[in-house]
Amino acid sequence: MNQTAVQTKSMTASKSKTDTFYTDVIEGLRATPKRLQSKYFYDAAGDKIFQELMDCPEYYPTDCELDIFANKTHELAQAVIGDGDAFDLIELGAGDATKSSYLLRHLQQENVDFTYLPIDISTNTINYLTVKLPLAIPGLKMKGLNGEYFEMLKKAATISKRRKVVLFMGSNIGNMPVAEATTFCAEMRKHLSPGDMVLIGFDLKKNPKTILSAYSDSQGITKRFNLNLLTRINRELDANFNIDQFDHYAMYDPETGACKSYLTSLQDQLVNIGKETIRFIKDEYIYMEISQKFTVMQTDQMAANTGFKPANRLFDSKKWFVDTIWVAE
Ligand code: AVJ
Repeated sequence: MNQTAVQTKSMTASKSKTDTFYTDVIEGLRATPKRLQSKYFYDAAGDKIFQELMDCPEYYPTDCELDIFANKTHELAQAVIGDGDAFDLIELGAGDATKSSYLLRHLQQENVDFTYLPIDISTNTINYLTVKLPLAIPGLKMKGLNGEYFEMLKKAATISKRRKVVLFMGSNIGNMPVAEATTFCAEMRKHLSPGDMVLIGFDLKKNPKTILSAYSDSQGITKRFNLNLLTRINRELDANFNIDQFDHYAMYDPETGACKSYLTSLQDQLVNIGKETIRFIKDEYIYMEISQKFTVMQTDQMAANTGFKPANRLFDSKKWFVDTIWVAE
């Protein structure tokens, strides 16, 4: 491809990305009740705020899963090694791979035959991992896959016929309502063969106050994290949200395990987004995010409903979080 073709191609890609973002935002804010999709939280500023959130004392899920990967590395490794045949270790939404690095390093030290295939939607993330990981873990075989999860899973199947182990960590599965998470697991199963494995990080039900304060921290980091999406819409979609006129509200329902975040309008107001105008009445809310909490039994049920068999469970020391390992049937 010549330079012009390269440019045209990347412009087309970024234009259509903006188009989907715009369509999703308008559709969500025209709906009753209003909603925005939490997958849009993660622009460069959002990534940074999420980093702050992970460092804040009330936000526990990252610490719990780090506890598992740092302190139960051997059990984890044994579980994914299984019968000992060579495999591809695929990670969905690898990020900076801080947690998974513990496992990668351990497998490498034990001379296990595997290739690491991180999948991420962010080109930056994949480029960063491709440079950083082989330096941090000498001898690591890896190939970064930049794109959507299921498209890249399909691609991974064409790269080798080896057994697949898929990591889906961080309780990212909780950002889907239970029915959608089930569909997601069933879809994942379709891209796998019997004997393949998945490791999924589920945040567990616990003291409701512990959960609620993780999603309404005292420093207001979660509030900034939510409001940042309005700032992003202002910048990328030519909008004029007055950030000061919205507040953040989080709630946790111990019965259903749903932890939900909202932004509420502090006054009657009109917001322009491109050529569209959205009306807010005082106290009207935008539903921003669900972070679903589970019981261990629910995770077993989800496995059974989607063609997997639970094989192993690893808990943090407080038993607040579980990394479950399922085998495809
Ligand atoms: C990155 C999806 C795991 O739901 O706990 C943190 C995102 N939202 N605080 C979560 C988030 C508010 C986080 N995940």
